[in-house]
Formats: sequence, C-alpha cells, structure tokens
Amino acid sequence: MEQKRDVIVVMAVAMLCSLSLVFAVETMATYRDPPYTPSECFNSTDKGTLIAAVGHAIWNNKRICGQKLNVRCINDDDSQSCKNSSVTVEVVDLCDGCNDSIVLSEEAFDVIANKEVGRVKVEYEL
Ligand SMILES: *[C@@H]1O[C@H](CO)[C@@H](O)[C@H](O)[C@H]1NC(C)=O
Ligand SMILES: *[C@@H]1O[C@H](CO)[C@@H](O)[C@H](O)[C@H]1NC(C)=O
Ligand SMILES: *[C@@H]1O[C@H](CO)[C@@H](O)[C@H](O)[C@H]1NC(C)=O
Repeated sequence: MEQKRDVIVVMAVAMLCSLSLVFAVETMATYRDPPYTPSECFNSTDKGTLIAAVGHAIWNNKRICGQKLNVRCINDDDSQSCKNSSVTVEVVDLCDGCNDSIVLSEEAFDVIANKEVGRVKVEYEL
C-alpha cells in the first residue's frame, strides 16, 4: 500500500514538472544589432543570428546557456507591434541591465515584431 502511494506521488510530481515546462512566461523583449560575439556563454564562438541574451532573473548562473527559447510576441492592444509568428532562439548571453526581460538579435526580433517598435511584450517557453 505504502509503495503504491509512493508511485502515485512520483507520478504526480513528474506530471507537474512536465506541465511547468509548457507554461509560458510573460516578459518584455528588446533587440540588439550585430555583431553578436563575443558572448557570456560561448566567448567568441559564433552561434548564428537566432540568439538571445537574458536578464539575471532568467540567467540561472549560466545554466540557461545553450537552451532554446520559443518566443511569441503579444499585442497589448490593437497596436501593430507584433507579427503573426513565433521564433526559437538560443540563449548565448547575459543582459546585465535586464532583470527578467530578454534581448533578441535583430533578426529574431524581426521575425515576431516590427523593429520600429523596439520593445514588445512577449511570452516564452523553455
Ligand atoms: C575568448 O575569446 C578571446 C578572443 O577571441 C580569447 O582571447 C580568449 O582566450 C577566449 N577565452 C576562452 C576562455 O576561450
Ligand atoms: C495569424 O495567424 C492565425 C492562425 O494562422 C490566423 O487565423 C490569423 O488570421 C493571422 N492574423 C494575421 C493578422 O495575419
Ligand atoms: C525581477 O524579476 C523578478 C521575476 O519576475 C521579480 O519578482 C522582481 O520583482 C524583479 N525585480 C526588479 C528589480 O524588477
């Protein structure tokens, strides 16, 4: 009996953990222009253009390095800030001045939002 309950608890915890991976986090995103190297994660290694830097609240002592974020722009009102798609970026850098916000490459930002706007609300999934 005791064992069976343990199994159920383990299953419940596993389910909660996998669920939490699906939860999207809402934050703000800006962008920066190239060059994108060097970076805090990969020094001078070029990781392409679909990349992002994250603030200290997400940085997790560098463990976020190399992880993929799926980022989607959210229109606050009926503004035309967002384009109708999402983009997957690799985390390569720390954004020192950011807390829980993210900085996309110019190319990645351009996929999901109008660059003239410069700063948009987004949600991302790890
Ligand atoms: C980081 O890149 C710089 C410039 O290319 C190089 O001088 C340095 O040795 C590299 N550091 C590491 C730890 O790879
Ligand atoms: C965005 O995509 C959705 C789903 O594909 C579609 O229904 C909607 O009309 C699109 N909106 C714009 C503004 O393109
Ligand atoms: C930094 O982000 C965390 C997580 O979203 C939030 O709880 C905290 O209030 C923020 N701190 C500042 C100074 O904005």
